[in-house]
Amino acid sequence: MAIKWDEEKTAGFREKLRQARALPTLPGIVSKITQMVEDPSVSAERIGRVIAKDHILAAKLLKLVNSAFYGFPGRISTVSSAVILLGFYVVRSLVLSASIFEAMEKTVVGLWEHSLGCAAIANVIARRLNLNNPEEVSTAALLHDIGKVVIRENLAEEAAVLDEAILSENISLYAAERRILKINHTQVGQRLCRHWNLPDRLAEPIAYHHEPSKSANHYVSTAIVHVADVLVRARGFGFGGDKWVPPLDHNAWAALTLREDDLPGLIAEAEEILVELRGFSFEIQNLGEKCPPAVES
Ligand SMILES: [Fe+2]
Ligand SMILES: [Fe+2]
Repeated sequence: MAIKWDEEKTAGFREKLRQARALPTLPGIVSKITQMVEDPSVSAERIGRVIAKDHILAAKLLKLVNSAFYGFPGRISTVSSAVILLGFYVVRSLVLSASIFEAMEKTVVGLWEHSLGCAAIANVIARRLNLNNPEEVSTAALLHDIGKVVIRENLAEEAAVLDEAILSENISLYAAERRILKINHTQVGQRLCRHWNLPDRLAEPIAYHHEPSKSANHYVSTAIVHVADVLVRARGFGFGGDKWVPPLDHNAWAALTLREDDLPGLIAEAEEILVELRGFSFEIQNLGEKCPPAVES
């Protein structure tokens, strides 16, 4: 059966993307924090003061820093100490994910779980490689498929056409996007990163997680997100949009110097992180307006 879609509408979407009109804006405070994190002259105290102005965000951060996932001894009650303990990159990861994925978790649960799983595996691999920014790699992994959310939000009917093509033609979502929309979620994600002024260290893994060889400056992070994406799909955790496991890029795998027999341990470690991440993600959803104002010293 031939599948019909609206060529004009998809062309309109590509044009809207070019002009960044189809892209969501980051809440002011989140965009401010993501930029402050990149500025070496900014102190944890200053970031803490900005976060403390947003009580819900501050409460989420305190909840995270006091969760079993981080296991810091004693209760941390100020946002500044949370920023110091968690580190700037974790804070950015939290504020980004808290604001972007709130809607996503409710609407596309499968993709949210897929993203969390990918973030957990990427985190374990980055730690094993002793990278100095494992949290940043997990943020890239958490956001790697964000383009899919933008596509679904802008083109609900075409998204249904994509789903149909995946089933009737036995192709991947990536291939269906390219053929039907003439743009794919990695390109949309890349534009979104640019729109949000996110650094290349996050943008490259998002842009090239299906073709890591194209990553020019952040190859290792890109290779990690690529491999984590393949592993989480192979593990059958969450739903990435189709039933296929994307092909593994062997150079990316080789770059991570992992052996096949490292995999069971690595997956088990990631699953432990995942249990925490899911619990935490569920809890922060339930932190509504009624949360008490954050204390800032
Ligand atoms: Fe993807
Ligand atoms: Fe993915």
